Amino acid sequence: MVSAGKDVSQGRPEPPFAESVVQVPVVSQHSIGNCLFGQPVGHHLEVQPIAVAVTRNNLTAIQSREPAELVLFTPGRPAPTVRISLSNESKEDIGHKLFHMNSGAGIACASCHPEGGEDGRTWNFACIGPRRTQSLQFGLAGTAPFHWDGDMKDFSTLMNQVFVGRMSGGQPNNLQLSGMKAWLDTLRPAPRPAPTQPAAIARGQAIFLDAKVGCASCHSGPKLTNNVSVDVGTSGAFQVPSLIGLADRAPYMHHGCAKTLRNRF
Ligand code: HEC
Ligand code: HEC
Repeated sequence: MVSAGKDVSQGRPEPPFAESVVQVPVVSQHSIGNCLFGQPVGHHLEVQPIAVAVTRNNLTAIQSREPAELVLFTPGRPAPTVRISLSNESKEDIGHKLFHMNSGAGIACASCHPEGGEDGRTWNFACIGPRRTQSLQFGLAGTAPFHWDGDMKDFSTLMNQVFVGRMSGGQPNNLQLSGMKAWLDTLRPAPRPAPTQPAAIARGQAIFLDAKVGCASCHSGPKLTNNVSVDVGTSGAFQVPSLIGLADRAPYMHHGCAKTLRNRF
């Protein structure tokens, strides 16, 4: 839990939202009616939940990331019935916390980028039109500018526009900004099973790298993008997307029009 203290890097007070980072209101179904009539009931617990289950004898079980513990509630009782520590090792991370917190508008970065990935959705923005959520699991460092249009020139511009502007968040301080950036840069797609058709993969790679075909002229380097906006006949110039983790994130293209890779081609 971040207390409302000072930002050690700046000597400035920490923004007020830091206090509400990891509050988890856990409200059982039968108590929702009471909430509507202005009597919030249910459990209030300051942990980072990563899984919730209801046990056979009707206890609510929450697994928390930080602190690493299992917390069991009995319906109708606000205090936890049992707290079982799973580890003493701390995974406290300011970037992870900021990414997962309620910004103040009831939404978190992780609402659309679960695990730093993508939600499978194409969101409709009033001014720019439909935009497919981009996965962030390819190592964000060195891939600016951001967004399909490439209109976010760096990470702090994106945070100002998205976190502060669209999500009504507080102004993050430098420690929080650099923490979030550093944490995002650690993200990679989930490991995949070993390929079963190595010959097909080699054939595909040869085509991809063939100068006459030209894929690698735009999808170049270790992140498979040259970070440039190009018009490839899809109604405007868009950032060349990284192709890392491609198999698990259909639909494709800035407006999510291609349900499969075959569609895309
Ligand atoms: C409502 C869903 C939603 C929320 C909330 C959200 N994003 Fe996104 N994110 C998107 C969409 C959609 C795009 C593509 C937008 C575009 O191109 O205009 C995107 C794109 C991005 C990109 C660009 C990736 C690239 O390769 O260019 C980054 C970085 C990013 N989001 C980080 C964040 C962070 C950090 C937060 C929290 C402050 C956040 N997002 C909150 C949906 C969301
Ligand atoms: C001239 C630059 C350029 C070349 C060459 C190019 N691409 Fe792309 N590629 C792009 C751009 C820009 C987009 C995004 C277009 C959009 O969303 O409207 C894109 C999108 C994609 C996507 C969708 C990815 C996603 O996340 O939605 C795939 C897959 C892809 N390209 C693969 C290839 C392959 C394979 C080749 C070679 C046959 C190739 N590209 C050649 C620029 C290029």
